Amino acid sequence: MSAGESDVPRPLRPLGPQRGIEIIDQRLLPHRLAWVPLQDAEAVATAIRDMWLRGAPLIGAAAAYGLALALARARAADDATLAAAAARLAATRPTAVNLAWALERVRSRVLPLPPGERAAAAWAEAEAIAEEDVAVNAAIGRHGLELLRAAAARRAAPPSRDRPLRVLTHCNAGWLATVGWGTATAPIYQAHAAGLPLEVWVDETRPRNQGASLTAWELGQAQVPHRVVADNAGGHLMQRGEVDLVIVGCDRVAANGDVCNKIGTYLKALAAHDNGVPFYVAMPMSTFDAALRDGDAIPIEERDTRELTHIAGRTADGEVVEVRLVPEGARAANPAFDVTPARLVTGLVTEHGVVDADAAALRALVRRVAPHAGGQGGQGGPAAVPGPGSAA
Ligand code: MRU
Repeated sequence: MSAGESDVPRPLRPLGPQRGIEIIDQRLLPHRLAWVPLQDAEAVATAIRDMWLRGAPLIGAAAAYGLALALARARAADDATLAAAAARLAATRPTAVNLAWALERVRSRVLPLPPGERAAAAWAEAEAIAEEDVAVNAAIGRHGLELLRAAAARRAAPPSRDRPLRVLTHCNAGWLATVGWGTATAPIYQAHAAGLPLEVWVDETRPRNQGASLTAWELGQAQVPHRVVADNAGGHLMQRGEVDLVIVGCDRVAANGDVCNKIGTYLKALAAHDNGVPFYVAMPMSTFDAALRDGDAIPIEERDTRELTHIAGRTADGEVVEVRLVPEGARAANPAFDVTPARLVTGLVTEHGVVDADAAALRALVRRVAPHAGGQGGQGGPAAVPGPGSAA
């Protein structure tokens, strides 16, 4: 990591094993920026489950701190306490594999230690996970920047040559979703800093509007040109030649390269495929689940339908209110993620470079970066932490 790459906005501040962590309460954005303390594992579990914080890498890092807090607060940091706290945290959200990956990393680090040493070691491991996430995303940014430069160079003919590079993204895979930089946004921030003229199409991302509320806020803070569009606009924009490249984040990638990400991603990939627009997925290795053969086995979170039937916003006099959108009594369904088949993915942008979304390329990558790994999760390490996220 070069100088300055770790000095980026972060949504999580560690305060210490006795005090816990502080996080940005993302439910309040973009209308209010507020930090809230989380002092024990139960508070961390609630914050993950109810999406005070969200995004695959961030929930992994927060859960790691949560496990450390559980051990620090316990009368005895014995095996039973460790297993119960890890299971409690793992059960908060099912789809993003980073959660099980981070918990397993902390668990396996402390299990061989005597109980009296476990809390401090767990906290140090959580710190390592958080710092590594920032470095990993900076590396994704460097590799992704080359893709953006290449896409800019490809626009040989006017009128596209005479306008900024147009990049479309879905959901929030920005610094709010990670410990720093973001995954899909890291190349965008690096391109902006390098002076590459670009504009970002920000999918609103119904039903929780992570694009409209969070990505637009982040890009605005960084003065990156962007326009929020309705989720349904992407296909039209691609048909009109208004999108040069799509880049999204991911919550779990299966061994064959199938990508699970926020609901609506699949439709963007289909439209990109139909229109010859490159469709990239920014994937830290902590989001790769080598134990799942394909995307069919990825557990898809079903969330409260109130996210769909109601919407919150700020009135002209500054009050934030929630209103109902659908008729009283209307039934709804709210699958929170979908799976984009590997064949629709142009490439996976990892911290180790850009790799094809297919089983052979991913196996070769794991052999190169973690030759002794096997099993599930992240860089191929086994996920012994039980929970809905550890389907295998
Ligand atoms: O339900 P969320 O907001 O946690 O979903 C987040 C996403 O789908 C992101 O795109 C994904 O986690 C990648 S975050 C770097």
